Amino acid sequence: MAEHFLVTGADGCIGAWTVRLLLDEGAEVTTFDLGENNSRHRLVSDGAPMDFRRITGDIVDRSAVVDAMAGVDRVIHLAALQVPFCKADPSNGAAVNVQGTVNVFEAAVEHGISPVAYASSAAIFGPVHLYPEPVLGPDALPKPATLYGAYKVANEQTAAVFAADHGLASVGLRPFTVYGAGRDQGVTSAPTAAIYSAVRREPYQVGYGGVTDFHYAPDVARAFIAASRVEFDTPAAPVLNLRGHVTSIEEFVDRVCRITGFDDLSVGGEPLPFAHSLSPAGLAELLGYIEPTPLDDAIAETARILAAAL
Ligand SMILES: NC(=O)c1ccc[n+]([C@@H]2O[C@H](COP(=O)([O-])OP(=O)(O)OC[C@H]3O[C@@H](n4cnc5c(N)ncnc54)[C@H](O)[C@@H]3O)[C@@H](O)[C@H]2O)c1
Repeated sequence: MAEHFLVTGADGCIGAWTVRLLLDEGAEVTTFDLGENNSRHRLVSDGAPMDFRRITGDIVDRSAVVDAMAGVDRVIHLAALQVPFCKADPSNGAAVNVQGTVNVFEAAVEHGISPVAYASSAAIFGPVHLYPEPVLGPDALPKPATLYGAYKVANEQTAAVFAADHGLASVGLRPFTVYGAGRDQGVTSAPTAAIYSAVRREPYQVGYGGVTDFHYAPDVARAFIAASRVEFDTPAAPVLNLRGHVTSIEEFVDRVCRITGFDDLSVGGEPLPFAHSLSPAGLAELLGYIEPTPLDDAIAETARILAAAL
């Protein structure tokens, strides 16, 4: 029988790619999201049938989350509000990002589903100047500079306590700058916005500079799928950094210009307040090696998908 996955926040960028890859493998997929937003699914599906079951609900509604997990084998929890939304409404940000994640852990315990794969973030780490070490391992000290990052720290620590108290295993992954078709909101969506703009032949400026770790959205989706399938002998709650391509925003934008043949893109502003060099120690051992798609191939594929959608 096909494995049955529940994907929360499935209408978002990483969620849409996760659903697409799961359907490609023949898995059964139930999605849980606030509304019925098909736009990113349509974008990434490349014409393939979008044959999944939808549950419309709020992750803050505990009983809705418990009900959604009935008959499910694996859980990938992505529902969250990103940096600007948490900043604009801290209390709602905490409800969705912290309480919502507790609901997912509680529901998994109730249904005996383990592990839970969930999204943490590189935003748990603060700006580069707070760290003497050049590369941060998975256990480096969190020093979040945003509420979003603070809520993700709470998720990671909650996961560890659920492992100890309830025997619930989990795998948390910390993406940094996810890019690709469907990445259209959140502070690190600007590099993808540059690709969108180049495809539309419209000038665009990425409003921050510096170096970041670029993760292509389908690679991140692959990592979450692998995380949801890890088998633990004893319940544990590892949280791991992802590793894509560490490079400057300028370099990424130059590549976009070269690949799309449009050069009215620029970069300006201060770096983001997140350390950029994160070690993926332990990742390949736990999930198997997931080779990052080469930057040029991923940018070209994104431009092709976006152009086709215009
Ligand atoms: N995109 C990145 O660069 C990045 C980096 C680090 C971590 N993450 C994390 O990965 C996960 C997915 O990111 P994404 O880029 O796909 O985000 P996204 O903003 O594109 O999607 C988030 C989804 O969550 C849903 N959602 C929000 N509030 C909800 C609620 N109350 N109930 C149910 N669903 C709700 C939204 O409707 C949306 O479809 C998030 O947890 C995010 O914090 C993303």
